[in-house]
Amino acid sequence: MCGIVGYVGNRKAWPVVIGGLKRLEYRGYDSAGVAMPVEGEIRVVKKKGRVAELDRLEPEYTARVTVAMGHTRWATHGEPNDVNAHPHLSASGEFCLIHNGIIENYAELKRRLLDRGYVFSSDTDTEVLVNLIEEIYEVGNVSPEDAVRLALTKVHGAFGIVVLCRSAPDMLVVARRGSPIVIGLGSGEYFVASDATPIVEYTKNVIYLNDDDIAIIGRDELTLKTIRNAPRTPEIKVLELELDAIEKGGYEHFMLKEIFEQPRSIRDSMRGRIAQDRSEVKLGGLVDVSEKLLNAERMIIVACGTSWHAGLIGEYLFEDLARLPVEVEYASEFRYRNPIVRADDVVLAISQSGETADTLAAIQQAKQQGATVLGVCNVVGSSIPRETHAGVYTHAGPEIGVASTKAFTSQVTVLALMAVMMGRMRGTLPDGRFNTLVEQLVSLPNVVERTIASVNDKVRYIAERYKDAANFLYLGRGYNFPVALEGALKLKEISYIHAEGYPAAEMKHGPIALIDENMPVVILATRDKTHEKIISNIMEVKARKGVVIAVVTEGDAFTPQLADYYLEIPEVAEPLTPLVSVLPLQLLAYYIAVMRGCDVDQPRNLAKSVTVE
Ligand code: G6P
Repeated sequence: MCGIVGYVGNRKAWPVVIGGLKRLEYRGYDSAGVAMPVEGEIRVVKKKGRVAELDRLEPEYTARVTVAMGHTRWATHGEPNDVNAHPHLSASGEFCLIHNGIIENYAELKRRLLDRGYVFSSDTDTEVLVNLIEEIYEVGNVSPEDAVRLALTKVHGAFGIVVLCRSAPDMLVVARRGSPIVIGLGSGEYFVASDATPIVEYTKNVIYLNDDDIAIIGRDELTLKTIRNAPRTPEIKVLELELDAIEKGGYEHFMLKEIFEQPRSIRDSMRGRIAQDRSEVKLGGLVDVSEKLLNAERMIIVACGTSWHAGLIGEYLFEDLARLPVEVEYASEFRYRNPIVRADDVVLAISQSGETADTLAAIQQAKQQGATVLGVCNVVGSSIPRETHAGVYTHAGPEIGVASTKAFTSQVTVLALMAVMMGRMRGTLPDGRFNTLVEQLVSLPNVVERTIASVNDKVRYIAERYKDAANFLYLGRGYNFPVALEGALKLKEISYIHAEGYPAAEMKHGPIALIDENMPVVILATRDKTHEKIISNIMEVKARKGVVIAVVTEGDAFTPQLADYYLEIPEVAEPLTPLVSVLPLQLLAYYIAVMRGCDVDQPRNLAKSVTVE
């Protein structure tokens, strides 16, 4: 969602801020803007549309500007247009604000400000906050930074903000509650951003703000305190991120790069976690909660989007291998449903970004109800790992494409490792099955590499044929049911074709009514214990003239004869099937979207990291 970049130092600030906003484009946005102090005024350049268009507007005065802040906005309050775009100036022009998050009591604050004569030009909650700061500054006779701090004590909701002040043009005031903020420490310069991607090319030394922290950044110093005015000692962390991890590296799109990166990302997710002699799976982040895992009566998985699909696969894995009852919940529903959570429940939150607002809220709910809360997360240092009792990083590396691919397979890899480890702990996974799974996990990166290479051209060929279809259906059973959901989600996210995923057996209870000669049906028909049943489902689709695109196991001579098109994948142990069967579906969505001329990495209306509920 919205992105923030700020700079104070000796360089020209415009290219730093514009370059940073481009790095944050992957989060999803619909307008962009930059503010900078120029000759006693704060100048704002903002526009609906892309950062590149904003860059084309670069005013001449930016040559002299060494302090600036910029924003990409994903509309919440008010439609995406030039007026609602950030930054927002206060009525007198003394303060200028960029803001991620939502001020929940903005209506009440706005009413009070209207009574006092303030006039608003936008529909945003941000313009309310910047005028609240100004009002406190004028009435309270306090410093600009104190005005910001005091205003923040009066707002409810989430914010990551940067403020520029006309009377203190060498200073940025930065604060967070809920929406992440990272500060990069250069030599004689500071960088501010909503994640580390705009910072890594300049410095690896960073400070992550905690909730209710406020940082006052001058040219030569940074002061950190809480919004209640208690001093805080900055804790400097070193980024592990490398610049090439956030660049396209010769691929046409980040999504394609990330699909092809999966052999490496899956290997990284397993690194150091399987003993050399393959006798043990160790997850260091869970050592402190091993008693809890051993004695857990139930696991509740909370997540959103693709991570929720990984959670569904987790349900099959934990029940199958560790004989642990599992419930998988949309984080948003869990939170508001008055859920029953017991002290011997383990709640597992899965998230790529670690910042999804609904998942964070579900974690708070589970903690309040006394559960042990674990996280499976990709972004190191993000909010979810900090809010959970223990957890496992997926180490997939930065995922820039909005449609999740490598983060998903890394999540499933980590869940498989967890389920195998817990199966051993709980005595539910016999030696033979343990050995097979561990052997196959070790060779999985090679299997994934071979699969991508072998299906790629054929998937492109199928995409060419069905790129103009209006609807797609995806069917799977068992471990492949969540893969069907994920395949359908990928296609609709980036190609805007309506697609639905279903458990194959449910087809006859509804979706079968939609099948005719115009309906491509992707059927996950790998050889497993429900293979005969899925063959029947293929026949049912064919009997209604549907087009069957089957994903089959290499060496299966029979199923391909029933399908219109087939894609072969190597045979793996059933619990690991999703890690291979999802690959052709990722590629299918990608090629169809490219052929339809869609913006694959930044699909319309979507955000990479959804920081509002
Ligand atoms: C957004 C993204 C999805 C992602 C979901 C959950 O909708 O576009 O790709 O699966 O959020 O995000 P998380 O970071 O919690 O996995």
